[in-house]
Amino acid sequence: MASSTPAVAAPLVLNPPPYSLDALEPYMSKTTLEFHWGKHHRAYVDNLKKQIAGTELNGLGLEEIIVKSYNGGSPLPSFNNAAQVWNHDFFWSSMKPGGGGQPVGALLELIERDFDSVDALMDEFKQAALTQFGSGWAWLGYKNGKIVVEKTPNAVNPLVFDYDPLVVVDVWEHAYYLDYQNRRPDFVSTFIDKLISWDAASERLDKAISAAASKSAL
Ligand SMILES: [Fe+2]
Repeated sequence: MASSTPAVAAPLVLNPPPYSLDALEPYMSKTTLEFHWGKHHRAYVDNLKKQIAGTELNGLGLEEIIVKSYNGGSPLPSFNNAAQVWNHDFFWSSMKPGGGGQPVGALLELIERDFDSVDALMDEFKQAALTQFGSGWAWLGYKNGKIVVEKTPNAVNPLVFDYDPLVVVDVWEHAYYLDYQNRRPDFVSTFIDKLISWDAASERLDKAISAAASKSAL
């Protein structure tokens, strides 16, 4: 047996979704989670570890790796894997068993102020998800005190922009093909009606509002 080496906390890990792999049935199958989390998400983690081994990025936290490897808009090869790891963590926690329904509290107030209604906001969100050509992501975010809808191609994520993400839906084909084949609209509608975690969105909004308040107090 090899001699023992000092224990070092692994900065990059494959985080499991915050529910069992069959918990989103029948709207997102266990098979989809087995492939999407167990194969795709895992590959992003494994590939990132290989890419940054021996580089100045090794040992940094994931968010720091994302910002540094974005390289001011000329991304280094490790950016795609790093951002995809973060995006998938965020996506899993943007859903919950028994999701859907309606937002409440401050989130609902902001949505009604900025979009008139939750339905109007989600129509725009759905449009963003459907018009993202090819692979990418559609986001609900918080920017300059307002609720916004954004979309990003491939692995690009809000950490390199100026808004705080509240919820994301993955519109890479690997997110829905096993359950919905080519029917991205059905997948996005189901995400909105049955899977979205408004609790997570509210928690993230509270943090974004607090962070903005602390910043402006400086
Ligand atoms: Fe994905």
